[in-house]
Amino acid sequence: MGKPNRILILFAHPALEKSRINRQLIKAVRGMDYITIRDLYEQYPNFHINVKLEQELLLAHDIIVFQHPFYWYSSPAILKEWQDLVLEHDFAYGNNGTALHGKKFLSAITTGGSEEAYCRQGHNYFTIRELLAPFEQTARLCGMEYLPPFVIHGTHQLREAHQLARYVDHYRSAIAMFRDNMIEWEQLLQHKHLNHYLEQVINKLESPLHVQ
Ligand SMILES: Cc1cc2nc3c(=O)[nH]c(=O)nc-3n(C[C@H](O)[C@H](O)[C@H](O)COP(=O)(O)O)c2cc1C
Repeated sequence: MGKPNRILILFAHPALEKSRINRQLIKAVRGMDYITIRDLYEQYPNFHINVKLEQELLLAHDIIVFQHPFYWYSSPAILKEWQDLVLEHDFAYGNNGTALHGKKFLSAITTGGSEEAYCRQGHNYFTIRELLAPFEQTARLCGMEYLPPFVIHGTHQLREAHQLARYVDHYRSAIAMFRDNMIEWEQLLQHKHLNHYLEQVINKLESPLHVQ
């Protein structure tokens, strides 16, 4: 299995007490070995981000996750502030800015809009991958490998506990598989969303034909 990957989850939700989905997701990965969770709104209620500390945390991890609800086709504001301040020249980019080279980057987002709404015929016109392009290109510029995002669509329609529970399970499984290097990375990169890869892998594990 080799050395586990250390995962840093940068979590941004400005009103966690009102959250239905992200609250469950973050609870599911809390306390896992090798996983560090930074709740940015909790850490920095006044947006005074400790750049040195955040950079040290980046250095100490192999996989960086931005977890947040999708707000105005992007992230809640603090993640933008975090990027503007922490991803400094000569640290994250530029000739001497190689600190993040070789790390992997994942977006884990939840959207009010349904999956069908995010396409040319839908009312959001653009696909999620297109709308996440600034995150993808930021990761690339910083020398990180951009992984297909984990997306939960249609959060307002997710009324049944079992529907949400399946997503929460998948998120926790994905984080555990990333940590334990249980991912076929090449195969994962063929998918638009991490969810599709997870469905395949988890369906196979749950199949009655699967022999332990
Ligand atoms: C300020 C704001 C902006 C939002 N913008 C979008 C958006 O651009 N696209 C979308 O699909 N949903 C949007 N939503 C819906 C949220 O994504 C949705 O409520 C959230 O993912 C649910 O997760 P939670 O239960 O953890 O809050 C927005 C919600 C708020 C409050």
